[in-house]
Amino acid sequence: MADASERQLRDWATYYARTAERAPRPTLLKALDVLGPPAPDWLAVDLGCGGGRDTVEMLRRGWRVLAIDAEQSAIDSLRGRLDLPADARLDTLVGRFETTIWPDADLVNSSFALPLCPPADFDPMWRRLLESLKPGGCFAGQLFGDRDSFRDRPGITTMTREEARARFDRLDIVLFEEEETDAVTPRGTPKHWHLFHVVARRPR
Ligand SMILES: C[S@@+](CC[C@H](N)C(=O)[O-])C[C@H]1O[C@@H](n2cnc3c(N)ncnc32)[C@H](O)[C@@H]1O
Repeated sequence: MADASERQLRDWATYYARTAERAPRPTLLKALDVLGPPAPDWLAVDLGCGGGRDTVEMLRRGWRVLAIDAEQSAIDSLRGRLDLPADARLDTLVGRFETTIWPDADLVNSSFALPLCPPADFDPMWRRLLESLKPGGCFAGQLFGDRDSFRDRPGITTMTREEARARFDRLDIVLFEEEETDAVTPRGTPKHWHLFHVVARRPR
C-alpha cells in the first residue's frame, strides 16, 4: 500500500499533467502588462512553478526566468515541455520557498503556491519575498482566505482580507480581488475556494 508521501507525489503528477497546458494565470498576465517588455537583464522568479503554465508565458515574452518548486517532478515536467521557446533563458531549482534564497527580481510570480507554506514559516518567507523585489518590480499571485476549505489542513496558511491586504502595505496595489467559490480542484477534490488574487508593485 502506498504511504502518504507516495500518494502526494502521485497527486502532484496528476496536477501537473492536468494543468501544465492551461492558459497562464490572469494575475501573471496583469503583471506582465504593467511591467511591459522586459529589459535584457530583467529576471522573473516563479515560486511553486508546477508544470510551468506561467513560466512558459514569461519565457515566450522574453523574460529570463528562475522557476522554483519543491517537487522534482514539477521541474521535470517543466523541462520536458515541448513548447519551451528554443531561446528560453530558464534556470530551475528544486527547493522550498521557506528555505531557498533567490536573487533580487523584477517579477516574483507565485500562482496558487504560497498558501502551501506552513504558518510558522510564512512571515519570514514573506519578508524575504518582499525584500527580493527590485524597485518598480511586481508581485503576482494568490493568498488563501480564512474561509477556504483547506484552512484546517496542516501546513496551509490562510488569512483574513485585512491580513492579506496588510501584506501589501508597502507596495502599490495594482489588483486586489477576493473570490469565494465552490469548485473541484484539478485533482478532482470538491473545494470551497476563498482567494485573494493580487498584483502589487514596489515603488521606485
Ligand atoms: C497548486 S500548485 C500551482 C502550480 C502552478 N504555479 C500553477 O499555477 O499551476 C502548487 C505548487 O507549489 C509547489 N509547492 C508547494 N509547497 C511548496 C514550497 N513550500 N516550496 C516550493 N514549492 C512548493 C507544489 O509542488 C506545486 O507544484
